[in-house]
Amino acid sequence: MEIKACLFDLDGVLVDTAIYHYKAWKQLANSLGFDFTEEQNEQLKGISRMESLDKILAWGKITKSGEEKLNLASQKNECYVAMINQMTPTEVLHGTVDFLTAIKDEGYKIALGSASKNSAIILERTQLTHFFDVIVDGNIVGKSKPDPEVFLKGAELLGVPPSACLVFEDAIAGIEAANRAGMRSVGIGSPEVLTEATIVVKDLSKLSVQHLRQMNEL
Ligand code: BG6
Ligand code: MG
Repeated sequence: MEIKACLFDLDGVLVDTAIYHYKAWKQLANSLGFDFTEEQNEQLKGISRMESLDKILAWGKITKSGEEKLNLASQKNECYVAMINQMTPTEVLHGTVDFLTAIKDEGYKIALGSASKNSAIILERTQLTHFFDVIVDGNIVGKSKPDPEVFLKGAELLGVPPSACLVFEDAIAGIEAANRAGMRSVGIGSPEVLTEATIVVKDLSKLSVQHLRQMNEL
């Protein structure tokens, strides 16, 4: 089936906001009297804000009520938003603008498929908004990856069947979501980690429209 649409995860594919999430969560954990490592932070990539908080509280062996958790999550988000409000287009990952420009010129439909509720600010600060026909993020989907909802919604809004969609993802959960949606995928990162992706590349600078045409056969 010919690929007609490209669906992009945001964090770790187009921009690297993981460091800001880490700093903001670390500040919150420290205020509660504990710390966590950068390796532990890897486990927070791709999962929702509340799921991240649950993991962090478990690492600190801390129990909080539902209301307290909402307060802690919004405290973290305030700190995170203050940081991403300072982002600039220089933080867009290598090869991203050239690749998005090339596929847009070629007529591929383009959607965002992110768990973040802050995707609009990030895309605006990094001047990427204009590339997207559709933005699906944590504000409009309830279920987190590996549930396929975020990508199925993107396909539906673009009016393209899942079998004609290609997902770009850096997280194992995101590749699983693509597979469960019946979509092919490009893993961004290491082939040892993203074993279930259709193909894996280091970053978007390694890809061209020609590669997408070759993927029609996969
Ligand atoms: C994902 C990140 O894109 O968005 C996760 O990889 C993050 O680490 C999730 O928890 C939710 O982000 P936000 O901006 O809604 O708190
Ligand atoms: Mg990601």
